[in-house]
Amino acid sequence: MNMMDLMTDNKVHDESRQGEAYAPFANDPNQYKKKFYIESYGCQMNFSDSEIVASILNSAGYGATRDTEEADLVLLNTCSIREKAEQTIRKRLTEFRKAKMRRPGMLVGVLGCMAERLKANLLEEEKLVDMVVGPDAYRTLPGLIEEAEGGQKSVNVLLSRDETYADISPVRLESNGMSAFISIMRGCNNMCSFCVVPFTRGRERSRDAKSIIAEAQDLFDRGFREVTLLGQNVDSYYFVDEKSNETVSFAMLMERVALISPDLRVRFSTSHPKDITDEVLYTMAKYENICKYIHLPVQSGNTRVLQLMNRTYTREWYMKKVDRIKEILPDCGISSDIIAGFCSETEEEHQDTLSIMDYSQYDYSYMFFYSERPGTLAARRYKDDVPEEVKKRRLQEIVDKQYHLSLESNKRDVGKTYKVLIEGESKKDENAWMGRNSQNKVIVFAKEQYNLKKGDYVYVTVTDCTKGTLLGVIEK
Ligand code: 5AD
Ligand code: SF4
Repeated sequence: MNMMDLMTDNKVHDESRQGEAYAPFANDPNQYKKKFYIESYGCQMNFSDSEIVASILNSAGYGATRDTEEADLVLLNTCSIREKAEQTIRKRLTEFRKAKMRRPGMLVGVLGCMAERLKANLLEEEKLVDMVVGPDAYRTLPGLIEEAEGGQKSVNVLLSRDETYADISPVRLESNGMSAFISIMRGCNNMCSFCVVPFTRGRERSRDAKSIIAEAQDLFDRGFREVTLLGQNVDSYYFVDEKSNETVSFAMLMERVALISPDLRVRFSTSHPKDITDEVLYTMAKYENICKYIHLPVQSGNTRVLQLMNRTYTREWYMKKVDRIKEILPDCGISSDIIAGFCSETEEEHQDTLSIMDYSQYDYSYMFFYSERPGTLAARRYKDDVPEEVKKRRLQEIVDKQYHLSLESNKRDVGKTYKVLIEGESKKDENAWMGRNSQNKVIVFAKEQYNLKKGDYVYVTVTDCTKGTLLGVIEK
């Protein structure tokens, strides 16, 4: 992974992690009779789900392997968000079909967002897979595996109104042992017209607050120093404890996690601009360990397009939200998701997107061209009429704009001192550490003579930068 990739680590759709295989423990004390291999695509939610799947499979007697050749069970946790994601996965399935011809006993399963969308095709027409399991059906995996072992094709893509896997402790990817994701809710009720998520992941539901706090506490006790609270729309988190009748908002939840220890950093993703409240912003301001970084997808800078997208805010409303963030949290980093070439978008409307990027001064953006997804509101209502080359050109303009904004943002940091959580050695230089500041920017700095280690906090002054990384020295 190079420095540019490092910057995208920990975020919504981390390109460098697409298709990453789940890492087994180095010294797993359990002796498992059978082995599973799991590969994950898509958003952090999906990566986090793979850790729940790993936990369920461990309980069913399956241990993880990174080698498909020794796997009895090969799983792909899939994403449907754009057509490209689905194509990548289909290619991968064809490769596994070849492996299956060599080893007929091996089972192949499709999990996640493509499961719901493509169950019939995957099982019958293409005969690529033995099992298809949707995001709310992972508890039934052991039974489905048994069925598949008996030679039946097995499917469960039922979506649930209440499944949150609250009681399952995810098996963590042991790669850095320092930061972990905690799912706090599932599904999504915002019917953004371009998005397939409400169909693949179902209705929004919030997980029991107590189980979230317990998971964060346990992670801290085990040496973790950073948790990211995950949901499609974290600001609409809302949990009612039936016993005490107490209601917990996202701000309250975040505060409780922050109170576990000042040494535990708290991050969250994703925020919908319509739902992020002053209460959340003030809570962020109150606790030093709640990181000053908000992923606030704009999607488009034009009010008419936003309306077609069903985003429920206008250009001006979004700009006011950015103002409010900067007022309450002057040093807060902001990132965005942007879609180029949505149905009927004109050149002027595209210019509005470029200008709102300037206005918001994003530190980072995830940028896509519009990809029509079957079944979505946009696919049913609007024509996907912006030619592909126009979409791509507009996307390139957005990418170029972001390049300059990221560089400018990093240049503004030169001379400033940040508290940095050390994540590990720099990939390029064993004499340097790599960590992040509160704003989620990667900082690389020489180890010098200090006796520091991964998971320590250290003050670093920024001396130089590239577009993707800050370079600094330890503050004496
Ligand atoms: N086409 C392009 N980008 C999309 N996204 C979601 N659906 C689509 C689509 N159909 C982008 C949005 C969202 C991010 C996760 O993916 O920007 O915020
Ligand atoms: Fe995540 Fe959406 Fe992709 Fe599903 S379709 S993996 S929810 S980004």
